[in-house]
Amino acid sequence: MTAHVIVLGNEKGGTGKSTAAMHIIAGLLDHGLNVGSLDLDLRQGTLSRYIENRSKSDRLLKSPDHVRIIEDNGHFQDAFDRLKEAEDVVVIDTPGHHTDLGVLAHSLADTLITPLNDSFIDLDVLARVDGEKMKIQSPSHYAETVWKQRQQKMLNQKGAHIDWIVMRNRLSHLDARNKRDMEILLDEMSKRLGCRIVPGFGERVIYRELFLKGLTMMDLSGAELSMSHLAARQEVRTLIEAMNLSCLDK
Ligand SMILES: Nc1ncnc2c1ncn2[C@@H]1O[C@H](COP(=O)(O)OP(=O)(O)OP(=O)(O)O)[C@@H](O)[C@H]1O
Ligand SMILES: [Mg+2]
Repeated sequence: MTAHVIVLGNEKGGTGKSTAAMHIIAGLLDHGLNVGSLDLDLRQGTLSRYIENRSKSDRLLKSPDHVRIIEDNGHFQDAFDRLKEAEDVVVIDTPGHHTDLGVLAHSLADTLITPLNDSFIDLDVLARVDGEKMKIQSPSHYAETVWKQRQQKMLNQKGAHIDWIVMRNRLSHLDARNKRDMEILLDEMSKRLGCRIVPGFGERVIYRELFLKGLTMMDLSGAELSMSHLAARQEVRTLIEAMNLSCLDK
């Protein structure tokens, strides 16, 4: 059996790709799956830093088989092929701008997850919006990239498709009006672009406070867990459920 491939992608920076990648990895490990991970953000390497911090922890933690790519020199394809054979799931984090490797990774995805901050600026990176009529006008560059990579994957893997999930990130309880307008536009966008919208993560300090320790709320137990940790843990589990991974049934 070959691994299910999850790619985190969005050509806009700072939307939560690396944060979501780490939490999805921790959630999958928590399910007892074997996880491989690849960091294609050659410069920042946020996911690699997270996993490096994790390896220094004195707790007994499960970690993914992680490869940090630092150059676009063919190493990625070798590492990917190895992990795809060896693991149940491979999670790939991509940079927040257009790169050849990032685009290539999209064509390998079974599931593409695009985190989106709840703002019209972020939405604009996926589709142009007519602000007067509050309507979607046309797909953006990134949506076109995804479209092309979907076609590429169909050609390469005989009709296989990419399940594109747009996850809303940093949702807050404030600003109900903005949230409602976003919901209407996202609903229309999902039909136009062929993606699914899932709730994703709330705006919570705990998605960042554990970075230096390399931990996530999936790794905490007992008295360490606050109500907010529990709520976040549920958000991660709900996101993983939304992916409908067949390897979870084994
Ligand atoms: N749900 C959340 N709650 C609170 N803070 C968050 C949440 N998601 C992400 N952040 C914070 O937002 C910032 C950007 O997140 P992250 O680095 O994961 O984004 P990214 O898309 O990987 O960025 P880049 O495009 O630069 O790689 C970080 O400071 C992170 O801690
Ligand atoms: Mg990142």
